[in-house]
Amino acid sequence: MMIIPMIRAVPLCILLAAALSAQHGRYLSESKNPAIGDPQSIAAGAKLYATSCAGCHGPDGSGGRGPNLVRRSLWHPLSDEAIFAAIQKGVPGTDMPPTRLSDEETWNLVAFLHSMIGPASENKVPGDPAAGERIFWSQSTGCSNCHSIAGRGGRLGPDLTNIGGRPLGLIKDAVLKRSRDLSLAGSEGVTVKLKNGQALEGVARNRSNYSLQLVDKSGNLHLLSMSDVSELTVSERSIMPNDYSKRLSRKELDDLLSYLARQTSRRTN
Ligand code: HEC
Ligand code: HEC
Repeated sequence: MMIIPMIRAVPLCILLAAALSAQHGRYLSESKNPAIGDPQSIAAGAKLYATSCAGCHGPDGSGGRGPNLVRRSLWHPLSDEAIFAAIQKGVPGTDMPPTRLSDEETWNLVAFLHSMIGPASENKVPGDPAAGERIFWSQSTGCSNCHSIAGRGGRLGPDLTNIGGRPLGLIKDAVLKRSRDLSLAGSEGVTVKLKNGQALEGVARNRSNYSLQLVDKSGNLHLLSMSDVSELTVSERSIMPNDYSKRLSRKELDDLLSYLARQTSRRTN
């Protein structure tokens, strides 16, 4: 737990949230190269990646000497063509070296990266989405007590109507690893003490220096003026359960992810 001062610079968070909502999950995939989405190309690209790229970008693209490519796609959308050029020419003035790969090998690599960092909704995801839907809406996982999709479900956690716009790896991490930095602003777990002695617990939405919108565990929205608040404690731990890796079998996880991967308002073809 950390007690944070009442007056805090919020504008940066707002900017960040705006940038994220404008860009998150965007991947500029104008390319019509047949390697994109082709399982054989992806498999061939995965082998090349392991030998030529993983040393700097990490086996799962999460970075090392080179940047985290999965997250980079959130902040700075990449296109298939830009990745193609980066692989062949390198990035001059940085550690990213040029390669001598043929065009075909390079497209295989691009296809692999596309499957790893492009929107889950555009990639083939193993699993049975109908079974995943039942898991999502079941009481045993409780996902839908906290999350909504297309206007149905709980309000404590972020809306997942467009979660398929994110790379699959990030969705999986969000379900299994609970790394906070993957989440959008606006879901901090907070405990609030009011000057009248009342205490509230829940998730903070739209927190500013002057006001706070708090959704409590029953989903009720409280509009609070910060002048009525005597103490605000932001929880470092997420309220989302962190034991789904034990509670879900491998098949259940695949099914759930294939359902989430399809949640997008963007048309796919
Ligand atoms: C020696 C380390 C190293 C190796 C090997 C390497 N990279 Fe990089 N890569 C980097 C660095 C450093 C950057 C960041 C360049 C910058 O600052 O913009 C980068 C950037 C990138 C980018 C982003 C380019 C952009 O326009 O933003 C992509 C995509 C990429 N690498 C893919 C690959 C692939 C695919 C391979 C394997 C063929 C690979 N890299 C091999 C170090 C490496
Ligand atoms: C008790 C409430 C709760 C339950 C139950 C819950 N979540 Fe979450 N979830 C959250 C909150 C709150 C966040 C926001 C990030 C954080 O605080 O970790 C979140 C974040 C996420 C994210 C990342 C969304 C984003 O935009 O960053 C995904 C994906 C997700 N949850 C999926 C699930 C799935 C699938 C289940 C069921 C297996 C589930 N959650 C169960 C509360 C919950």
